[in-house]
Amino acid sequence: MADIIDGKAIAADVTAKVKIVADTLLEKTGIQTGLAVVIVGEDPASQVYVANKGRTAKACGFHSVEHKLPEDTSEQALVDIVESLNNDPAIHGILVQLPLPQHIDAGRIIQTIAPEKDVDGFHFINVGKLGTGEIDTAFVPCTPAGSMLLIERVLGKDLSGKTAVVVGRSNIVGKPMFNLLLAANATVTIAHSRTRDLEALCKTADILIAAVGRPQMIKGDWVKPGAVLIDVGINRIDAPEKGEGKTRLVGDADFDSCQAVASAITPVPGGVGPMTIAMLMANAVTSAYRSAGEEAPSF
Ligand SMILES: NC(=O)c1ccc[n+]([C@@H]2O[C@H](COP(=O)([O-])OP(=O)(O)OC[C@H]3O[C@@H](n4cnc5c(N)ncnc54)[C@H](OP(=O)(O)O)[C@@H]3O)[C@@H](O)[C@H]2O)c1
Repeated sequence: MADIIDGKAIAADVTAKVKIVADTLLEKTGIQTGLAVVIVGEDPASQVYVANKGRTAKACGFHSVEHKLPEDTSEQALVDIVESLNNDPAIHGILVQLPLPQHIDAGRIIQTIAPEKDVDGFHFINVGKLGTGEIDTAFVPCTPAGSMLLIERVLGKDLSGKTAVVVGRSNIVGKPMFNLLLAANATVTIAHSRTRDLEALCKTADILIAAVGRPQMIKGDWVKPGAVLIDVGINRIDAPEKGEGKTRLVGDADFDSCQAVASAITPVPGGVGPMTIAMLMANAVTSAYRSAGEEAPSF
């Protein structure tokens, strides 16, 4: 029976450390870490994420700024706001909440964010640094960075000799996860919707990352006995057992059957999810340290 990796507790450790190092920077240099979050439109899930980010930023002692813009905001108006944040010395991290309304080119907005303030790690400069192993000066996307920290807590930092399979090749999860595992010396395979015999491939993995967006797709008999399973998926499904019209969150792995086979597993909710916001805070304070010319803390 697998141990459950408590992402909530590990995320709380990370944010507690962020607060300490943010306070230290403020005392030493007078610089308060500044994080700006920009949201366009009324998407309810995005509103919840942004509220959580603002609350956590304040709890970390940050200068927290929120720009809530109406759905019909023009692309140029958004570019202008991002550029003003790029030029604001009180802001060290800029996050534009995705998805953006259809009339706005998200790619243009992401590439407008100054790479040194790109705490989401989506700018080409940061993507390129991660891809070439320049991790110490990059910003790494928060969900894969958080997933990596969970793996480290179980297996340590050096994954030499371990095989890893990442299911999903998105730019925000699968590909950066691949690069992080490779940088930690794992032997990594990335799988996607065109992969043949995914089940057999998954069964080869000492470390299995599920980032597919398909509820409970990965079953226990796909998992190598003793593997570490990181479930990035967040899917809402019907839960008639809780009452009519009720729903619940599940991951991309079938938790019960996988827990019976793996050695460690992340739950959904309470696994990777809380790590994403914690790593955003870690990236923001790291940016403030870099801007002050101070050595950035490690998490
Ligand atoms: N915990 C968090 O904070 C957090 C953050 C971000 C995302 N998520 C969750 O993580 C999951 C993945 O997110 P994402 O943004 O990476 O999703 P995405 O952009 O939709 O990418 C999904 C990937 O899964 C692959 N895939 C889809 N169906 C497949 C199948 N049947 N077999 C094999 N591969 C398949 C796709 O392959 P192709 O490339 O061939 O289409 C694609 O590469 C979602 O559940 C999302 O909600 C969680």
